[in-house]
Amino acid sequence: MDGRDLVRSVRVVGSVGAAQRLRTVKAAWRRRRADAEALPPRGPERARVPGPVREVEPGTGGGVIRFNRSELRILVAVNGAVFWGWDGAAPEPSYALLGRCPEADPRAVLEPDKDGGWRVVAERVTVVVSRHGAIEVRTPGGVTLRRDLPPRWWEPVGGGAARWMQRSEVPADARFFGLGGRASGPRLRAGTYRLWNTDPGRAFGPGDDPLYVTMPVQLVVSDAATHLVFHDTTWDGTVTLREGEEGAGSGHDRAGTSELRVEGGPLRCWVMVGTPARVLLAWASLTGAPALPPTWALGHHHARWGFGSEQEVRRIVSGYQERGLPLDAVHLDIDHLDEHQVFTVDQERFPKLPLLAEELRGDGIRLVSIVDPAVKAAEGNAVYDGGTAVDAFVRDASGQLVRGVAWPGEVVFPDFTHPRVREWWGGLYEERLTQGFSGFWHDMNEPTSFAAFGESTLPRSARHALEGRGGDHREAHNVYALGMARAAYDSLRELAPKERPFVFSRSGWAGMQRYGGTWSGDVATGWPGLRASLSLVLGLGLCGVPYSGPDVGGFDGSPSPELYLRWLQLGAYLPLFRTHASLRAGRREPWEFGADVLEHARVALVERRRLLPYFVTLAHLARRTGAPYVRPLWWNAPEDRALRDCEDAFLLGDGLLVAPVLDPGADRRAVQLPRGRWYDTVTEQVYEGPAQVLVDAPLSRIPVLARAGAVIPVRGDDGGLELEVWAPARGRSGGGLVVPDGGDGWDEPELERYVTRWKSRGKRLVVERAGEGGSSEPPYPVRVRGLGERSAQM
Ligand code: NOJ
Repeated sequence: MDGRDLVRSVRVVGSVGAAQRLRTVKAAWRRRRADAEALPPRGPERARVPGPVREVEPGTGGGVIRFNRSELRILVAVNGAVFWGWDGAAPEPSYALLGRCPEADPRAVLEPDKDGGWRVVAERVTVVVSRHGAIEVRTPGGVTLRRDLPPRWWEPVGGGAARWMQRSEVPADARFFGLGGRASGPRLRAGTYRLWNTDPGRAFGPGDDPLYVTMPVQLVVSDAATHLVFHDTTWDGTVTLREGEEGAGSGHDRAGTSELRVEGGPLRCWVMVGTPARVLLAWASLTGAPALPPTWALGHHHARWGFGSEQEVRRIVSGYQERGLPLDAVHLDIDHLDEHQVFTVDQERFPKLPLLAEELRGDGIRLVSIVDPAVKAAEGNAVYDGGTAVDAFVRDASGQLVRGVAWPGEVVFPDFTHPRVREWWGGLYEERLTQGFSGFWHDMNEPTSFAAFGESTLPRSARHALEGRGGDHREAHNVYALGMARAAYDSLRELAPKERPFVFSRSGWAGMQRYGGTWSGDVATGWPGLRASLSLVLGLGLCGVPYSGPDVGGFDGSPSPELYLRWLQLGAYLPLFRTHASLRAGRREPWEFGADVLEHARVALVERRRLLPYFVTLAHLARRTGAPYVRPLWWNAPEDRALRDCEDAFLLGDGLLVAPVLDPGADRRAVQLPRGRWYDTVTEQVYEGPAQVLVDAPLSRIPVLARAGAVIPVRGDDGGLELEVWAPARGRSGGGLVVPDGGDGWDEPELERYVTRWKSRGKRLVVERAGEGGSSEPPYPVRVRGLGERSAQM
């Protein structure tokens, strides 16, 4: 932004400021009034528990247990997941599953257990139901992983949604992860976590909760096994967690507890048991495979609120090009829109957007557009008129349009829980494609409506179609962004059928990975924000959303050169690698922080490009197996307690361990290593795990270690694929998977498997491609590393 643009934008914001403030006051009053009229305070309630068991009806995959005051349906599915629903709740309808409910496993059936209880024995899990409705999830070896006490409902005497509470116990050694994107994790310590997608309204740090993506998904890791539990209800609620404590062999362990309180909706859940990889595979088979981003989206993105003009975009792009810095995408924020109105262009500042897009594309750089759901409530606005024609916008209980406030001023909100509305909205992306955009950045879709007081979202009483069932915002809120993503993704598949859609969304819910990814939102500039960035990516990955990343450098203010660099160095190893900042924030271009930072930033950017084939492989593996690219250190060894508590490093796929620098002033750092041999990828120094080791972390790089035996696909100097092989320890073998880049379309490249092993009594290291008909030479150049003083004979 040049000086003139800056002055202009400040003036615009300033003049709009007073009027906008007034709108937010009015909107807040309207919201309060609407809710007071349509949702009177809860009157007297009747508490209910299931009571004693009355009768049992075994059926395929489980059956139904009838208690005096409720009924429990249990189903073991063929993917090994177990479902149960109280009050007869079935798996569908579900926004998370979307018709994907797996078949019942015919081998599993309810059978009597001791003390009048019942059990279902499945391959990997046994579920035992006591005669009063406590439910235990046990390993095949009989260890209890989770014990749900009988649930409790509170029903309004005059009718209405019943609140409910489910208290559960987990082993004393268990650790909790997940619940969507949480800034204070990834390990979720004692506290209450709300299930209500929320724009914190300012740049956030680790203490802020909830944030934009909440999910009733808990991943619980304990010595005996890992389990994922998903309470399939979209309603507002809280989860209160408390880790357990072990009595140091005294036999007096205190169990960990989870207490879920929800304002309404069905009490039903899915549980998956096994290794972390197995659990995430089952979760992906239940809620859908993560969308495969186009290859360019695995490169480096530069965004900014307030580029302000085509010239400024060109200036930034040239800045990258002149310095030989890799850049794959540029994102345009709301300042490129005509008065912030969605699906428009400010013709004065961006008069030739399609041309700009074409030029950039010629240089291998894609344009990504922000898309906000709020539509300016003004006749003559084409989106408003079009939406009005199909009755697209959310109404209140009395049938009036719900008016909120967003960047364009007074706005209305499409109801994405209606198929007709999704179809209409999806069609609007055609305008974006015509402008030359290749990807879509969904923002403000918690949904956020600015309010002077109270919650900055729609009234809880606002009505939604909920696929024809009808309901209010209390039920629709958390899946609002999910519907928006679905609308965009489904439509883009038709509008641009040759390219995989690229959609990422600030808000979302269980199943959002089917349509794309997410990003941190407005993470605060500062070292705590850097730490929160990693927490979010790890936590979301464990909820099945593998593609995400932070605003590199933080959203607000001005990072110190050191902080900026450390953020960029971390971002280079995260799936979404995007620099972004707020309108008034300081610069974020790598050359704005001095010559040293520029050179170190170059190393990180070039390394990301070199690792692109590895990211492509990880994206394919995420889609095929549900495994996140970014995994906690305990991924392959959940029983290793030191790893379980380690939150400052991560595995990138099977081959690399990344130990970002998260504190100022560091030039080395401690790294907790999983078992096996690890190489510092720069110095090739060898470390043996399990151990805690001190590793060099000069300003020029963060420690990245390679697992001995790993095969990592990288981009060679000529742009072709190469295999970087890290020598296994003598007498040991290794290997890796490679999925070659099949372009941005729908080709399904074959998965290639490589093995590394020593031959001739440790004299010769061979790298082979394993195939059905035997092994063969790799079709790519191979570079062996980590051989130390011994030289390899290939
Ligand atoms: C909020 C988003 O989180 C941020 O990334 C964006 O720059 C602003 N909205 C303006 O669109």
